[in-house]
Amino acid sequence: MKIITEKTATAASARAFAIVNELAQHDQLKVMGLATGSTPLGLYKLIRESDLDFSHSTSVNLDEYVGLQPTDPQSYHYFMQEHLFSAKPFKESFFPDGANPDAAAVTKEYDQVLAQHPIDLQVLGIGQNGHIGFNEPGTSFDSHTHRVALTESTIAANARFFDNPDQVPRYAYTMGIASIMAAKRIILLAFGEEKAAAIQQTVNGPVTPAVPASILQRHPDVTLVLDEEAASQL
Ligand code: PGA
Repeated sequence: MKIITEKTATAASARAFAIVNELAQHDQLKVMGLATGSTPLGLYKLIRESDLDFSHSTSVNLDEYVGLQPTDPQSYHYFMQEHLFSAKPFKESFFPDGANPDAAAVTKEYDQVLAQHPIDLQVLGIGQNGHIGFNEPGTSFDSHTHRVALTESTIAANARFFDNPDQVPRYAYTMGIASIMAAKRIILLAFGEEKAAAIQQTVNGPVTPAVPASILQRHPDVTLVLDEEAASQL
């Protein structure tokens, strides 16, 4: 694993942008894997303000809540529209279809999307419990797209985006660990001391489903882009 540590999240986002920019300039971003959450917002802002053009690229997002329409302001589809696609449209953008309750159909369809669009660069955040996407602790490393019941800690962490915790959807569709590991390159961003323990376990701990991100130790091209607080236990 390559580890880049910057003093602040702003500086770390600039480093992440430099990686994206470099790949885009060399036409190596045909398919970009994208993440939601607060962590990539600085990166997306820099992309919005750049002169990069993704109109010939495809995006695939990690996950989507089950039960929300793409037009729902709490959906990840809406989040991406607001923070990136409105300014930087891609040729096509894929999400698991959160509006469809038929998990077997949705997950099969999304696995086909991923097979047809191999990811050049996957952007990841990390949960305080080490989750990547919505792959919570205990998820099989062999998993492909699947439906997950969110853990209480993830529901609590995401409740800040909702008026009250009861509104947080209880299920999501997510790319699996194997789907993420199939990406050619991965950058994982983590900011703040609340991520420090998860980063420490991801980098120095055993590779175990108890810490889903620990599997990244086995990926050939992973860069962690951290602020000082997230790196404070390394
Ligand atoms: P965050 O979420 O960027 O909002 O901290 C990251 C995650 O849970 O994967």
